[in-house]
Amino acid sequence: MEKYQSSVTKTFGILTAGGDCPGLNAAIRGVCRAASSRYNMKVIGIADGYRGLIEGDARELKPDDFSGILTRGGTILGASREKPFKEEPRLNAGEIEQDKVAAIKENYRKLGLDCLVVLGGNGTNTIGYRLTWEGLNVLGLPKTIDNDIVGTDRSFGFNSALAVATDAIDRLHSTAQSHSRVIVIELMGHKAGWLSLYAGVAGGGDIILIPEIPYDIKSIGRHLQSRAGEGKRFSIVVVAEGALSVDEFKMDKKDRKKYRAETVYPSIAYRLAREIETETGMETRATVLGYMQRGGIPSATDRLLATSLGTATAELLARGEYGRMVALAGDEITSVDLSIPADKVKSVPREHYMIDTALSVGTCMGE
Ligand code: F6P
Repeated sequence: MEKYQSSVTKTFGILTAGGDCPGLNAAIRGVCRAASSRYNMKVIGIADGYRGLIEGDARELKPDDFSGILTRGGTILGASREKPFKEEPRLNAGEIEQDKVAAIKENYRKLGLDCLVVLGGNGTNTIGYRLTWEGLNVLGLPKTIDNDIVGTDRSFGFNSALAVATDAIDRLHSTAQSHSRVIVIELMGHKAGWLSLYAGVAGGGDIILIPEIPYDIKSIGRHLQSRAGEGKRFSIVVVAEGALSVDEFKMDKKDRKKYRAETVYPSIAYRLAREIETETGMETRATVLGYMQRGGIPSATDRLLATSLGTATAELLARGEYGRMVALAGDEITSVDLSIPADKVKSVPREHYMIDTALSVGTCMGE
């Protein structure tokens, strides 16, 4: 019997682009182990996302390279936000940087790749899709702590970040209680509020503010006063970094950017803390969790998801089914056409059950 099963793909390149997150190494291991041990494929590791592909910074990975990395945070390949497009990688507005795309095509050819596997969020998968128009074979994997990729129920990284954010909210409870303060905690999520909503509910936040629901400082003030009236001496406000006030929500992107640039606050948590103090007279502090959310070891759930998505990618490589992104649908691992996630953001729908859950336990969503 043959040691290896037959495979359409003989050699593929793999890169991690955009912001890192826990689970990237588990996914790399999943793809590479299955591809090499089952199908004898040759793996080319590309350094620092698309930068490495543009500059030809790549080397062959051997089984030792992807051994012992399941539990490791970050990415062994390095990551960057380098884009081969002049603007955001929008499909229509995305004027390509001819030199960079030409370099990518040249290096793809030089490295002898049959396919490029990209691990990333919306930007990375959109670029991947755009590169299929240039004649490259591409497969995508969905990673991001933001969980905002269309076409998959979950992206890996989200569950680990959720645990970190929930732990932070738990810790803030005790200090807020001791000092009878309001504490605002800012979590990542510029465009989508999944992380803040889930961590806010898991951590019992009293107010949760997400980009999808504009907040009214008057409603926030009323909610805090009513808690105080019930004898509750502290409150926790969970805010996504991209949350918007009712006024900001009405502005177009340009005006909003200008408005934010003119304020003296480094980020929304500080602005909101001041607004709350002005509105209620309550002592308020701000905490920005920042990159803690992206660091550290992946949770068991993320390891399982990343590994399964990785091995499913190897199966697509073996069958030569290119132009797809592996995905989770319910409890099944599946794949969708790369055009599905491209150029989109999966926002929290207003009717999502978790919003209703939050409201049902008395959490204010800022409205
Ligand atoms: O997309 C993941 C993410 O962590 C966002 O939540 C956050 O807004 C952004 O990346 C931060 O990006 P950078 O690593 O470029 O500072």
